[in-house]
Amino acid sequence: MSCDLCSAFAALYGRTPDGEWMAPGRVNLIGEHTDYNDGFVLPMALHLGVRAAVARRTDDRLRVASRQQRGVIEIEADRLTQAAVRGWAAYPAGVIWALRQAGHAVGGYDFVFDGDLPAEAGLSSSAAIECVTALAVSELADLALDRATLALLAQRAENEFVGVPTGIMDQFASLLCTADHALLLDARSLEREQLPLPLDRNGLALLIVDTAAPRRLTDGDYASRRRACAEAAHALSVSSLRDVPLTGLDAALCSLPEGELPRRVRHVVTENARVLGAAALLRAGQIDRLGPLLNASHASLRDDYDVSSLELDVAVEAAIHAGALGARLTGAGFGGCAIALVPQELADNVAMAVEHAFDQRRLAAPRSFTATAATGARGHVSHG
Ligand code: GLA
Repeated sequence: MSCDLCSAFAALYGRTPDGEWMAPGRVNLIGEHTDYNDGFVLPMALHLGVRAAVARRTDDRLRVASRQQRGVIEIEADRLTQAAVRGWAAYPAGVIWALRQAGHAVGGYDFVFDGDLPAEAGLSSSAAIECVTALAVSELADLALDRATLALLAQRAENEFVGVPTGIMDQFASLLCTADHALLLDARSLEREQLPLPLDRNGLALLIVDTAAPRRLTDGDYASRRRACAEAAHALSVSSLRDVPLTGLDAALCSLPEGELPRRVRHVVTENARVLGAAALLRAGQIDRLGPLLNASHASLRDDYDVSSLELDVAVEAAIHAGALGARLTGAGFGGCAIALVPQELADNVAMAVEHAFDQRRLAAPRSFTATAATGARGHVSHG
């Protein structure tokens, strides 16, 4: 166990934790706003994430603390309600709530969390807190739940306890990604395939540009996109937009009333096709040909789905201009991060070109770093 987290735990609670776990954040390579339309996504896990030192208690009390926040929050596990828990503690508390709702005998725990993911950057810091909690508690309570079940419980915590209507991508990415692979997930059947992502062997790097422009999913834009998709599916008499085939897109668009719906539908249907195209390229070992799909995804999110921002557009344009093979916003959009697939020798230049473009437009300085596909959530019970 890493000493710093262990010592923070001992300093707060006066005892050693029963184990330490880590759940990563993610970037999505392609497939945005498709998961809640029963479609396809292709995320990879990051090396950054949330760690948790956790110990069982003999009563039903939850004590949660974070090295990034002040104080210890105390909650009774058998009295968990949305109204009783506010702020970041709702994520771990929501997971305990979801486990108990599902009938699992889960009592009290002491937690200390520590994270190195930038918050509100669209890298799934919330899912990482949920997933590290779910994995730790399921192991400490010997629940023997598989990771897909844990991901669904973590999503339930986010949807029903925290109250944000996200899809299933982030929790699956955090719990099920493997090193050097992207995870192709069918959000309807939950079938998955690990696709090799040999960035290094192809002389490529994935640059992540955090535009540092904060985004808030709770603002309602995400929920309004979801509602528009449900409305369009209803108008097209399909159970979800996944069921509109690319070949039937034009006819579907003609049958919809004028307004935002046709553009929302066009994004979802073409984005699903782009994910499958990207997956086929990865299977064929042609990672260097992903660029045009990334660019097309960004254009579609910008023009049809209206979830880009000035900062994201500037980052994407500057990256492509400086030699990236392709670039796009990643995650929900409305600010947050962009990714760029770049030849390794150009990574620094591309990052500098993006910084320069921000500077010229007097935008707050972005932060860039390169990422490899890391392994999903991990950790273990260390004793007792
Ligand atoms: C957020 C949600 C995901 C997904 C993306 C957009 O990250 O948590 O479920 O919908 O936005 O692709």
